[in-house]
Amino acid sequence: MTDFPALAPDFTWGVATSAYQIEGAVAEDGRSPSIWDTYSHTPGRIDGNDTGDVACDHYHRWPEDIALMRDLGVDAYRFSVAWPRILPAGGGAVNKAGIDYYDRLVDGLLTAGIRPFVTLYHWDLPQVLQDQGGWPVRETAERFGEYAAVVARALGDRVSDWITLNEPLCSAWIGYLENRMAPGHADLTEAVQASYHLLLGHGLAAAAIRAEAAVPPQVGIVINPSPCEPATDTPEDIAAAVRADGHTNRWWLDPVHGRGFPADMRELYQVELPEQPGDAELIGAPMDFLGLNYYFRMIAANDPEGPIPYARQIEVPGMARTHMGWEVNPDGLEKLLVRVADDYRPAKIYITENGSAYVDTVTPEGAVDDLDRAAYLQSHLAAVDRAAGRGVPMAGYFAWSLLDNFEWAYGYDKRFGLIHVDYETQVRTIKTSGRRYANLIDNHRAATGRGAA
Ligand code: IFM
Repeated sequence: MTDFPALAPDFTWGVATSAYQIEGAVAEDGRSPSIWDTYSHTPGRIDGNDTGDVACDHYHRWPEDIALMRDLGVDAYRFSVAWPRILPAGGGAVNKAGIDYYDRLVDGLLTAGIRPFVTLYHWDLPQVLQDQGGWPVRETAERFGEYAAVVARALGDRVSDWITLNEPLCSAWIGYLENRMAPGHADLTEAVQASYHLLLGHGLAAAAIRAEAAVPPQVGIVINPSPCEPATDTPEDIAAAVRADGHTNRWWLDPVHGRGFPADMRELYQVELPEQPGDAELIGAPMDFLGLNYYFRMIAANDPEGPIPYARQIEVPGMARTHMGWEVNPDGLEKLLVRVADDYRPAKIYITENGSAYVDTVTPEGAVDDLDRAAYLQSHLAAVDRAAGRGVPMAGYFAWSLLDNFEWAYGYDKRFGLIHVDYETQVRTIKTSGRRYANLIDNHRAATGRGAA
């Protein structure tokens, strides 16, 4: 008996990670520094001055991690390729050792019966390209297209599922506007130009994958939208919620669905977009799927003196929160899925990330009984199931994350894994949430005739 009757028999059950958060081995086999190496090594940028230098040592321990995925019984693994391993100079000469690593990983996954979902950019821009201007300059988008072609040529004979960018909002808004992520800038003009070139890079990369992959590719982008609600029904708060929605959601979703950048937000930012003929068509070229990462909803109040988009996030008292301070709100996920499906009509939607950080305790017997995270997982899957029941074309769900890992500016203190990592010993322990996920997957398979893994 499945808990999720509306999820189709071929629904993809996955787990997700990203390169800088788990690989470590930052100076091995010809990898050059990325903006996150620079940023994390800048004192005061990361809680506890943590870095990704070692992280989960997945670069060396991937066979063990694939075995853990098999234990969980997942269908698919979403990981990212580190651009600085493949093209240490940002462009030009290809580093064979970098390609070889991902070759081994992909082969290992396929041997284990796990489908690789490859993300090309999860925030680790080669530092050398940042030194030449980073995402605010057009050349970075062009280099990204070239890098995509290299990876698609190398892995496209075995990989069929491709994601160009992960959460371009974070790269542009948090990295170039809010000064809370690499490269750590606070400049609206740079941020808007970065947002444009990220999406141009998506278009160029998607075209390159289609041109180079030997296996017919499925290509999409990963956006991290939040449902935005007004704090009150005053016209001011309603307008603030529209701005928050524009900044967080429409600025990203509209252009990749061929609608161009939203006029109200262009007006608000007052930054000229570096548009050239043909860009809009590249950016808006049809995709095979849309990836959505969901973590929280936004309740917006008018904030005319605050930063762009002049909308302050209101915290509703009494709501359960994770260790990140993020409200637990599975209904927000259902609402978001229905809205995105209605407004943009994507062919398929994957939840490419969803998960929660909680403080974990390891029992003397070595167990991690993370009931909060297990309940979070189950309630959010139930929301996905309800959305599917309402006609949203749900194709799969990737839990964030396979492993505890480097949570960016929060360092190692925030744990999102279904698998606990002891960073001293690198011992991995499947948590109760991981076991729960495995059971839910098995039950769904059994109930839909696919048989238990
Ligand atoms: O860890 C991140 C991930 O890299 C991108 N999406 C959100 C996760 C949790 O903050």
